[in-house]
Amino acid sequence: MLRVIGLLSGTSADGIDAALCEIDGAPPKLSARIVRGQTLPYAPALRERILAAMQAGGADAQEMAVLNVEIGKSFAQAAREVAGEDCDLIGSHGQTVWHQVEADGRVTATLQIGEAAEIAERTGLTVVNNFRARDVAAGGQGAPLVGYLDWLLLRHESEWRAVQNIGGVGNVTFLPPLNAPGARMMAFDTGPGNALLDNLAALMSNGRLSYDEDGAWAAQGRVDEGWLAELMEHPYFRQPPPKTTGRELFSPAMAAELKLDGQRRGLDEASVLATVTALTAESIAAACRNFPPAPVSELILAGGGRLNRTLVAMLRQWLTPARVSVSDDYGIDGDFKEALLFAVLAYETWHNRIGSLPEQTGAAHGSVLGQITPGANYAALLRRTWRP
Ligand SMILES: Nc1ncnc2c1ncn2[C@@H]1O[C@H](COP(=O)(O)OP(=O)(O)O)[C@@H](O)[C@H]1O
Ligand SMILES: [Mg+2]
Repeated sequence: MLRVIGLLSGTSADGIDAALCEIDGAPPKLSARIVRGQTLPYAPALRERILAAMQAGGADAQEMAVLNVEIGKSFAQAAREVAGEDCDLIGSHGQTVWHQVEADGRVTATLQIGEAAEIAERTGLTVVNNFRARDVAAGGQGAPLVGYLDWLLLRHESEWRAVQNIGGVGNVTFLPPLNAPGARMMAFDTGPGNALLDNLAALMSNGRLSYDEDGAWAAQGRVDEGWLAELMEHPYFRQPPPKTTGRELFSPAMAAELKLDGQRRGLDEASVLATVTALTAESIAAACRNFPPAPVSELILAGGGRLNRTLVAMLRQWLTPARVSVSDDYGIDGDFKEALLFAVLAYETWHNRIGSLPEQTGAAHGSVLGQITPGANYAALLRRTWRP
């Protein structure tokens, strides 16, 4: 058994999720559980710089170099806060700042920063990071990677399931049942998660709010069905999987335009937020209707968006008769599911096993993911775990 810390900050850049995990065995009998998790919010000034760096031209080489180290130090701090005694390994996803999707949908570059050397230096632990790059090198999208964890931990005996993460961007895994051993999973980004909602909440509150807590503001509005139908015409939603997206497409600029469009339509602010909340919900529901290889009986939610009651109520209504649940119902804290993923991927890399499946990312083959930065415990860890 290894004690592995998973670290992650997604496109919301709300803070660093850190989870101490206990991981044992090997697929298909791998066990993984979260011992404790904690989110270390970014200092507001650092968050502003990260959000700026995510936009084209938002950061030059100097700023990127400095951010890489500062974020690395923050990640080390987040790791130390959950560490306790006897940790073995860290899996750090880093902070996503750029995901380069070409016009034909291929991903040619993806950048997650947060210097691993800073994390190894400050924790004494061996670090695996930069997980997405190898999958991109193998011709894949580099994302979503969470399907590997879903495949290991969340398949149903006889039914197809969908597992939906709602972070800044949304991503889904369609999981075949255990009794269909030949069936393949499918995974892709569904489109915007909380990203546009966070931007709109900030814009319409003059910066007072960074998100619509519990979806309370959107709940006061009314969905403009005609506008929603127009928004769903966005070509991303029709594009067949595998596909991924990011803040480059569902950007702050798009949110600002949505605000103006809503005003032109005579909508009040709550109704703009309600309609864009419906866009996130409908893009998820449409993905569930259009793309799974077989009908899904249940949608399992994770990520911050599962706490948006307005969004979840829409999903419940539009996905009937499929059930809507949360990963917490299955013993996986939905705030730290992706942190658990990067702990598991680090564990798999450490044991020289692949952590990506071609059916998730469109890569030519699965890969042993990431890069290893030896920490002070490197030799001891090798001695303990090496099986020739
Ligand atoms: N109580 C809540 N009500 C509504 N939205 C929430 C709530 N808590 C978190 N969120 C949303 O979740 C986002 C963070 O989700 P997270 O899963 O951390 O995304 P990411 O992986 O992009 O960092 C916040 O920016 C916010 O939009
Ligand atoms: Mg987050």
